[in-house]
Amino acid sequence: MNYELTLQQAENHQADAHPARHGGRLLQSTSRLSETLASDGFGKSKSADDKTLLKIWIKVRKDSQIPEFDTITECKWSFEGEDNLRKYTERLVELVNENGGIFVEDALKLQERDIFSMVDEKIHPSEAFVIPALRALKKAIVNYFENTKQDERMRKATETIICHCRHVTDADIQESIEKGCKTLEEISMATGAGTGCNSCIGRVTEILSGRKKTALGKFN
Ligand code: FES
Repeated sequence: MNYELTLQQAENHQADAHPARHGGRLLQSTSRLSETLASDGFGKSKSADDKTLLKIWIKVRKDSQIPEFDTITECKWSFEGEDNLRKYTERLVELVNENGGIFVEDALKLQERDIFSMVDEKIHPSEAFVIPALRALKKAIVNYFENTKQDERMRKATETIICHCRHVTDADIQESIEKGCKTLEEISMATGAGTGCNSCIGRVTEILSGRKKTALGKFN
């Protein structure tokens, strides 16, 4: 495989990863990042209809002692497209930036309802406008883990809960398969998945059959 970038590709990549330095057309936040400071993580996401492209950059203060204290101190964003997406993204970035920043771990836990509750209640919020913002932020965080070689945290951040009763993730199930579980029963014994309300059995079976990708696979 040829990994060489064309000059244009290289410039685009640099502009994505280091918007301030390359003077990308942005930035819609109240951030005060230095013009020469590169971001620590970058993520982008498209709306469901493909009409809007959202990009998020984060600056992280790394804690040398306790990784869980890593803090996002600045978040910047830009987008092209729908105005509704702008509103929810603005709110998300406000949440991240207010009070001097947010722990990376807490940013990963932000959900749709955290954003809905702060936006004009007369307007019915649509998931289509919120999910891209959350997804772009999560990708920026995963990119930060990747850049700082925090492989275990990167894996955790890309996991999905499959069994809510027993809090079992797709990575837990994949791991049990790699350790030798070959049937649903064996996976249930090893992880606890499917031993409550049973509503996750279909998703567990999909992973077992290889039809569902897991966090242990490549994060897109
Ligand atoms: S969600 Fe898995 S048993 Fe209930």
